Amino acid sequence: MAFRVFNGEVNNKATKIFGGVASGICDWDDIKYPHMLTLYKELFGNYWIEDEIRLTSDLKHYRESLTDREKYVYNVLTGMLTSLDSVANRFNFTLGHTCTDPSVAAVIQMIGAFEGLHARSYQYLTSTMLNFEEKKQAFNAPKDIPLLRNRNDIIFKQIQNFVDDPSNMKKLYYALLANLVLEGVFFTGAFVYFNSLARSNRMIGSNNMVSLIKTDENFHSVFYGDVMKILMLENPELNTKENHQYAINFIKCCAEKEKEWGECIFQDIDTLSIPEYKDYVEYLTNVICRNAGIEEVYPNNKELKSKWIITYGTKGGNTKSDFFQTNVISYGHESGDGFDL
Ligand SMILES: [Fe+2]
Ligand SMILES: [Fe+2]
Repeated sequence: MAFRVFNGEVNNKATKIFGGVASGICDWDDIKYPHMLTLYKELFGNYWIEDEIRLTSDLKHYRESLTDREKYVYNVLTGMLTSLDSVANRFNFTLGHTCTDPSVAAVIQMIGAFEGLHARSYQYLTSTMLNFEEKKQAFNAPKDIPLLRNRNDIIFKQIQNFVDDPSNMKKLYYALLANLVLEGVFFTGAFVYFNSLARSNRMIGSNNMVSLIKTDENFHSVFYGDVMKILMLENPELNTKENHQYAINFIKCCAEKEKEWGECIFQDIDTLSIPEYKDYVEYLTNVICRNAGIEEVYPNNKELKSKWIITYGTKGGNTKSDFFQTNVISYGHESGDGFDL
């Protein structure tokens, strides 16, 4: 069941965000969850363009000061992130298509468009830095590395099940859980490698771009946490002990897979230690649980211990940026006032 484009017999305000009814007219003054308008506007405000980030010094760093292992990890992670964003881009559009609340659908479609921008950004990084062989290595990594493939399969399977049967509410619930992990753990976990390179004063442009993407992903994670809470509220048949336990087990299984992957990919990387990474994965996992109203999977890990991740992984947080990079990272727009038309 997809949404109705127009239904003249019912209210403009949707009865439910999924599986509900609405006229199809998006009246932002008459929506069930008024904060959707704020989210929508904020998303628009986060707009940025990848080619405005300068990568000249990154190219020099990549060629001259990254070890072979560091280059390999850079390649594999950019390929992996591309694969996740490609999936996120398509998933959001299917989700937007089944969403019955036009205001929520508008936010989801905007998020989908941003996932497309993210995939393009990794393309920009790799086509600037990598030669033909390296690029092949990057973009085939999600297919070629069994451990990575196995980690991704857990979430891709749930997302595919939903895409194949989008009116099934249980499949929707499982796919949304998988999406929480995709955005809040698998993506965000990988960003930290770029933060760690910037901490060693290399690949600052790449890190600036990743920090812009991370800001978007954090936003998405909060939004999808909200969607999960709304879904539980509107569909008591999904809000069961059994499903809650499923969510905890599923998220924990994904987090453990991520730790295993971290152990493999960050081997022989000096800028980031494996125990530090595992600790960060647990912290991130708890964040997605809290956002979605799910019990924390690692109750003993409430605080971010590696504070440098905040310094190097936050938009505008890197004090070592040069003028151009600072300019980029504090990407902003003129207000529309005074435009000559
Ligand atoms: Fe993304
Ligand atoms: Fe996202």
